[in-house]
Amino acid sequence: MSDRQKSVAIIGQGYVGLPLAMAAVDAGWSVIGVENSRAKYEGIAAGVSPVEDVASELIKDAMSAGKYKITNDVSDVAGASIVVICVPTPLNDKREPDLAILESAVSGIAPYLVSGTLVISESTSYPGTVREVVAPMIARLKSSVDIQVDIAVAPERVNPGDVKYHQKNTPRLVGGLDETSTRRAVDFYSSICDEVVEVSTPEIAETAKLLENTFRLVNIALVNQLAQLCDDQNINVHEVIDAASTKPYGYMKFTPSVGVGGHCIPVDPMYLSWWAERNGSKASIIDESEAINLGMPIYVSKRVRALIPAGAKSKRVLIMGIAYKPGVSDVRETPATALRDDLIAQGCEVAWLDPLVSEWDGLTPVGVDWECDAAVVATAQPGMPVAVIAARGVPVLDCTGAFAHLENVTRL
Ligand SMILES: NC(=O)c1ccc[n+]([C@@H]2O[C@H](COP(=O)([O-])OP(=O)(O)OC[C@H]3O[C@@H](n4cnc5c(N)ncnc54)[C@H](O)[C@@H]3O)[C@@H](O)[C@H]2O)c1
Repeated sequence: MSDRQKSVAIIGQGYVGLPLAMAAVDAGWSVIGVENSRAKYEGIAAGVSPVEDVASELIKDAMSAGKYKITNDVSDVAGASIVVICVPTPLNDKREPDLAILESAVSGIAPYLVSGTLVISESTSYPGTVREVVAPMIARLKSSVDIQVDIAVAPERVNPGDVKYHQKNTPRLVGGLDETSTRRAVDFYSSICDEVVEVSTPEIAETAKLLENTFRLVNIALVNQLAQLCDDQNINVHEVIDAASTKPYGYMKFTPSVGVGGHCIPVDPMYLSWWAERNGSKASIIDESEAINLGMPIYVSKRVRALIPAGAKSKRVLIMGIAYKPGVSDVRETPATALRDDLIAQGCEVAWLDPLVSEWDGLTPVGVDWECDAAVVATAQPGMPVAVIAARGVPVLDCTGAFAHLENVTRL
């Protein structure tokens, strides 16, 4: 095999691209990590991992073994037989798909692709993105019409902070634009993952990814709405959920929370909803679920304010755990933002702490000794001093269930 044949370039070295890069190194590939954020690029070049799931040591070892190279020069993709795109696909201000970053990544690589390169998109998007957006762009911008490129989709399913499931033991969906693309993508992922699931078209893979995360959005919304209905009628929703969870089939347990956050659950279903609307239909269940989940921080704000003792001179509220989920420092789309904003709008003085987050919207965390009239646990981040604060007599609303056994703690 030539050097090019055993090389893979990965565009974007974030939560998806960097773990993939390390898994590919582990599987024997030479990896070129392309990253255009200067801070991230310089950090990785200095051997510092920007994501919790990848140890800095792993990056340093891969670099010193000559198996991993970080670059901010996109022309380096010419040295790879496979180029995997792992860049963000966010929403715009109207909460509609914003493919600008994906399009910029595709237009960046296209002129450097050589014949026989396989381009794979792992970025989550609406059905048809690879066929209607990625492939035509490559066809238009490649350096010569004679260059033949294979194209496939392999949606990433990584779950940051998960210690059980990772690249190797999470089955991978693969769908190519044609037989060769599919076969080559299946071969690539077979070298990394225990199980590769070949589907008939890229659209099947793209839609399946959206179904997975929409399933979560809808079920989270269902249980969040049930929590409010039960609280109104003095029914303990957790006892209800535990009771329902004894059914051995046809039920999956979800628990109420402050809302949904991160790059996936609040975002991906909106791609499906937008796509439905573009096609003259309506994904009403998604729109309703989104509205319920977006309303949760406001509901939580009301519940925590109700815990402030009557006659308290101040309305100081501490938010504990502001990352969108435990074990990560990621605050993208965190529902803690809407909670904070509503508490402030309702006249509260708000501070926050999170052992994994050192700065949030330009603000720094307070220490455990910050005097407050009530506290709310938004995310069960490891290492939080909830017990210390509750033991001081501060009423705490726990949106996670992790601290419900403590005195002075009320569960959402
Ligand atoms: N984070 C998750 O849990 C997760 C899970 C499954 C799928 N996804 C999907 O994977 C994709 C990537 O998400 P992520 O969480 O890894 O994002 P991320 O922001 O953590 O990482 C993306 C990286 O790409 C870089 N980048 C952007 N444009 C670039 C370019 N033109 N050239 C080089 N680098 C570029 C960014 O600087 C960033 O470091 C998204 O489509 C997302 O929906 C994410």
